[in-house]
Amino acid sequence: MSRLTWLLVLSCLVSLVWAQREPVPVQEEFQLDNGDGILSLLKTAVGLDDNRQSPESESPTDAKTPSQEPLRIVAMGDLHGSYQNTVDILRYMGIVDSDDKWIGGKTVYVQTASAQYGDVVDRGPDTIKLYALLQQLKIDAKLAGGEVVALLGNHEIMNLAGDWRYVTTSDIETFGNRTARQAAFDIHTGYIGTYLAKLPISARVNTTVFVHGGIHPSFAEGGSEGLNAVAKGMLPGYVKDPRHGDTIGIFHTLGPVWYRDYALEDEDVICPVLDEALLMLEAERMVIGHTVQANGRIGHRCDGRLITIDVGIGVAYGSHQAALEIIGSDVWAVYAGGKRSKIQEPLKRDEL
Ligand SMILES: *[C@@H]1O[C@H](CO)[C@@H](O)[C@H](O)[C@H]1NC(C)=O
Ligand SMILES: *[C@@H]1O[C@H](CO)[C@@H](O)[C@H](O)[C@H]1NC(C)=O
Repeated sequence: MSRLTWLLVLSCLVSLVWAQREPVPVQEEFQLDNGDGILSLLKTAVGLDDNRQSPESESPTDAKTPSQEPLRIVAMGDLHGSYQNTVDILRYMGIVDSDDKWIGGKTVYVQTASAQYGDVVDRGPDTIKLYALLQQLKIDAKLAGGEVVALLGNHEIMNLAGDWRYVTTSDIETFGNRTARQAAFDIHTGYIGTYLAKLPISARVNTTVFVHGGIHPSFAEGGSEGLNAVAKGMLPGYVKDPRHGDTIGIFHTLGPVWYRDYALEDEDVICPVLDEALLMLEAERMVIGHTVQANGRIGHRCDGRLITIDVGIGVAYGSHQAALEIIGSDVWAVYAGGKRSKIQEPLKRDEL
């Protein structure tokens, strides 16, 4: 054979091997920081990740592929600066042990006040400890195959923008003084600010969308990832100049961290709006924090398509303990001591 033929054969072989290589992890195909590997987990969960494993490469005995294992998702609402109440719940949910170390395995833990349902900060003195805990859990969860997704809430954004209306004196004291706290929340240089700047505003895990306040259809067009990209782009400008820096109102009353109508408006009026948003977000249900449930119970509206999980975990709200647990299509509210109560599955509009 001529040298040219050999070269051709060789390049064919190389491209064949190249085509068979391990696919790039899903998260690297995205520019968005949606809580680091959450997108890859999600894609595996909904079976979108079809180039990860070709059907031929699956042996018939190996029926238990990751995409068939139901995902365990645990979500908590606003923590409002209460470290003790937070770890109490994480312990009875089997997410951390008595030393606050991750034992949640592959659980996806969503904090809607860091997912946190937004509000990790304010109204209590444990800001630094809570952020440190969440950051540590995020690292440890990843090693165990799990995931911690912390979402931005309105209070995180207020603190970034220098709006301290709800900040307690005891909170400022844990930083040393006002100047030190201000520096910590600087979006470009602060140890908390730079962390918050990376957090997403919403997350879709399998068929559930999590957000602090609620995603109105006017913010749902690009899906959860699109919304995160827009918010991330808008945040530095808003923080610098809250009056002019947000030209689309994403950090204002109807925006995803402040919106309350899904939780408060009449269901007749608001469920069709929610359904429109869910359709755009390609999700079955929305889980929100932000609006406190006065009875301390996880609530649901619109036939389970909306779940309200801000039960008032903070001391200022009565130290209610509850977490939401989703396993496959089963949804539970889990209260102090691990007491479980099943929540209705979401009914699709055409099943009503
Ligand atoms: C504030 O606290 C920081 C760090 O503890 C310290 O270095 C600084 O001198 C303090 N500033 C004032 C005005 O007290
Ligand atoms: C994703 O959600 C669907 C519908 O709720 C459920 O049937 C399925 O088990 C979930 N997938 C995983 C991996 O949990």
